[in-house]
Amino acid sequence: MVGAGTQLTDDEFDGLLPAALWRVARTHFTPVDVARRALGMLAPAAGTAVLDIGAGVGKFCIAAALAAPAVRVVGIEQRGHLVEVGRDLARQLGAANVELRHGDAFDHDWLEFAGLYLFNPFGEVAHRDAPLLDGGSAHAPSCYFASTRGARERLAALRPGTRVVSYHGGRPPPGYDLVEHHDDPTGPLALWRRR
Ligand SMILES: C[S@@+](CC[C@H](N)C(=O)[O-])C[C@H]1O[C@@H](n2cnc3c(N)ncnc32)[C@H](O)[C@@H]1O
Repeated sequence: MVGAGTQLTDDEFDGLLPAALWRVARTHFTPVDVARRALGMLAPAAGTAVLDIGAGVGKFCIAAALAAPAVRVVGIEQRGHLVEVGRDLARQLGAANVELRHGDAFDHDWLEFAGLYLFNPFGEVAHRDAPLLDGGSAHAPSCYFASTRGARERLAALRPGTRVVSYHGGRPPPGYDLVEHHDDPTGPLALWRRR
């Protein structure tokens, strides 16, 4: 068990994944250092909660939760098998302040959270021939546009002051200020704030 406050590494986390997920971890899951920095940018107060839209196996959630035991880190993920893996990893790694929910992000209330994290959650189906996280490919541009439009509507309805961190691109709707932007070697990381 790693436990709260200790320094989880990518090798440690990814090494616990089943082989098929280990192979895609570097492409589809947030590096632990980025997760810690993103959480710092979201700057949640103790006792509040942040939400990862499309949590995968919970890598952002678990790395962030271990770094900030007083914050609740919630992830919503549509693929049930990833949620099962993530819950097991949270237990193994001693991340008691993580909650991984199974379902569609659009069936959940985004308003209860102090901050939101998005690692390009809808991008998998945006590009022809891009590999899906669990194998194969599914080019579905209309699905991609519907999801990004839905996310922008949800983001537009969030309370003033709400922070949103995007990793690997994506722009919130008008009404957000760009507070920080980093051209990270692994992908752009940006902090937006609702006016
Ligand atoms: C690039 S992965 C990011 C995983 C995780 N956030 C991380 O940073 O480690 C995007 C995830 O979003 C999920 N996803 C896409 N659309 C979703 C939706 N509408 N509701 C819930 N999850 C969704 C995908 O199944 C995939 O696991």
